[in-house]
Amino acid sequence: MSDQQKFETRLVHGAIRADKHAGPAGTPIVQASTFAYQTAAEIENVFAGRAPGFTYSRISNPTIDELEQRINSLEEGLGTVACSSGMAAITSTFLTLASAGDEIITSQGLFSGTWNLLKETLKRFGIETHFVDACNLAEIEGAINDKTRLIFVESIGNPKLDVPDLEAISKIAKAHGIVFAVDSTITSPFLLQSKNFGANLCLHSTTKLMNGHGNALGGSVTDLGNFEWNSPRYPHLKTYAERFRQFAFLAFFRKQVHQNTGDCLSPMNAFLTLTGLESLAVRQTWQCQSAQKIAEHFKDNPNIICLRYPGLQDHPNYDVVQKQFAGVGASVLTLELRDKKTCFEFIDALRIIKNATNLGDARTLAIHPASTFSRELSPEDKIKNGVTEGLIRFSIGLEHPDDLINDIETALLKISTT
Ligand SMILES: Cc1ncc(COP(=O)(O)O)c(C=O)c1O
Repeated sequence: MSDQQKFETRLVHGAIRADKHAGPAGTPIVQASTFAYQTAAEIENVFAGRAPGFTYSRISNPTIDELEQRINSLEEGLGTVACSSGMAAITSTFLTLASAGDEIITSQGLFSGTWNLLKETLKRFGIETHFVDACNLAEIEGAINDKTRLIFVESIGNPKLDVPDLEAISKIAKAHGIVFAVDSTITSPFLLQSKNFGANLCLHSTTKLMNGHGNALGGSVTDLGNFEWNSPRYPHLKTYAERFRQFAFLAFFRKQVHQNTGDCLSPMNAFLTLTGLESLAVRQTWQCQSAQKIAEHFKDNPNIICLRYPGLQDHPNYDVVQKQFAGVGASVLTLELRDKKTCFEFIDALRIIKNATNLGDARTLAIHPASTFSRELSPEDKIKNGVTEGLIRFSIGLEHPDDLINDIETALLKISTT
């Protein structure tokens, strides 16, 4: 029998500690910004990396460290860094791999925050981005050139719900010696082991499913241990590759970006995320089953122009869903109604489902992307991003699906037909 514990066990226990002393069964919050040492030599050794230890929570902290080890165990990675939010983890990954003059290839189905980061913020610093259809392999390959430093996709695009074929993209990335990173926020390691499909880095907004209770922002990046960092495509990593070998990305990320920009997670948020993580498998199983039931119930409803859910056979990437997520369609679905006015009438008529942004929450949430988180996108970019004026996104929570079906059905009856 394998020594590897099952996923659900690792969710709750994380790294096994050989601690002989009695103590808290769960992870305590070490709510400290700084750590004191007996001698100057001791703290020097920790700063120099010659001895383990914590010096300052912007660099690391025992509670944050426990979360990093827990996520790393779930992703079966080489190492994980936790950040203050999903956007922080994404930004620091981009800044670790790309410099002025470099290029990134990403999906048109991308979350609008990441889209704006690339198109507006990083562009000002000389990093160019190609937005391609991530389900079109020829488009991805056609965008590659000598300046490409990263191919970055979401496991399920938010809110487009496109599902790129990770294995196929990873082969292209590998053939060109380019890092392939997957934002697995909508799937979590419960639905997707990105390493098995060739990803080199896996990112999460832990704010979403991993926390699961809407009470703490957070993000993470995991090096999946399958990229050779001593590569001419990444000359800035050369000295790190010589010194830290396979840990070059993680060392550069921590030392040159994470601790310099201060995108650190707070110990309290690490604690809340660890608490949420313990129930991830149970929550996500229920949420995905409910989403499937709701999608099947409403797929032919005459008031809905289009219902999109990766677990339905008519989803354009249904085959990839079977392969990558063992046929489970996740807990997010979208509805297309006639226009913005109809969407607002519908949302205002919901009684149980909350009108809020966020995903993977214990409560079911509905939102109109075009007027909220995607509102900064230009009209052309909204079209590429799959955001129309009639689109509503649902994140299915832990309520009973029958109550959610009732709520949606009642609200649909209240929308005007003219
Ligand atoms: C797929 C995806 N990645 C990243 C983020 C950003 O995460 P955070 O809000 O934790 O910064 C989001 C937020 O909605 C998201 O949906």
